[in-house]
Amino acid sequence: MNKEVVLSGIRPTGYLHLGNYFGAMRNYVRMQDEYNCYFFVANWHSLTTHPDTKELKSSVHRVIAENIACGLDPEKVALYVQSDVTEIAELYLYLNMLAYKGELEKTTTFKEKVRLQPENVNAGLLTYPVLMAADILIHRAVKVPVGKDQEQHLEMTRNFAERFNFRYGNVFPMPYAFNYGDELVKIMSLDGNGKMSKSENQMNTLYLADEDDSIRKKIMKAKTDSGPTEPNSIKPDYIEGLFNLIKVVSDKSVVEKFESDFNQCHIRYGDMKKQLAEDMVNFIRPIREKAEALRADEKYMKEIMEHGAAKARVSAQATLQLVRDAVGLRYY
Ligand code: TRP
Repeated sequence: MNKEVVLSGIRPTGYLHLGNYFGAMRNYVRMQDEYNCYFFVANWHSLTTHPDTKELKSSVHRVIAENIACGLDPEKVALYVQSDVTEIAELYLYLNMLAYKGELEKTTTFKEKVRLQPENVNAGLLTYPVLMAADILIHRAVKVPVGKDQEQHLEMTRNFAERFNFRYGNVFPMPYAFNYGDELVKIMSLDGNGKMSKSENQMNTLYLADEDDSIRKKIMKAKTDSGPTEPNSIKPDYIEGLFNLIKVVSDKSVVEKFESDFNQCHIRYGDMKKQLAEDMVNFIRPIREKAEALRADEKYMKEIMEHGAAKARVSAQATLQLVRDAVGLRYY
């Protein structure tokens, strides 16, 4: 069985939300049967912003538990924590010799971080894309499910891989961004201002860890207006966002009813939000409860992380052997 290698990393900062679920996790779950999947928690990457490491620990546990609660099967995929696979750090070292200061300084995410944390422009931040390249190339992955904001990093990964192959011999296949294009749903924040966020605008983001009442409260205070005055109007962003949510969690008949109410100008947003709130509670509750139960089971969490790391290290060690041979590091 020679399945293509899929890999993606999740930064353990902030809480996972509905946008992460529909943009990433749900697709991971779909990929786990079709591909040879590696999914990991990018805790080294998080250190670039100097977080409180105690909080980082609980975030790492939460991310693992939530991914499993969403349907990721640790028997089918390798689900691991980046820092447990130290082979990545060695590959990062070699790739650093092939990454140029100029191109790293030009990276959009680096420039953004320089703006956000001018007091902490460390070398890890500058070489963030090199570490990400090491994450991907260590398993010789070819498909990388990531959002648009990560495309530049992927392009850099291909550049580093090409330079390596050219200088030392062909070791790495080229990785590309990958998503199921057919059903990409846009999960807007509840005020219609951009997307849901792991750390910002929390009152307008639905987290997978949110309690029932908090979900209800957030939805009931979501922005609406007095409704359209012309039949078949175009929906304002914040209304479109609510419809997108109801489309992903409610029955088709419910969606059709409110669509038709909207188009005929007699929609009652209060009713729509009540229905959405209940359907959302029913959607999030089982995920939250399952993740909580997993997280409370320390023995299980430990086993899962050890198991994932062991799987990932088999593949990482095989790649690293090829890399060391290609670079010519056999001296005896
Ligand atoms: N940089 C990614 C993000 O911010 C996380 C990440 C780290 C990643 N290493 C990766 C994603 C490797 C895909 C592949 O979301």
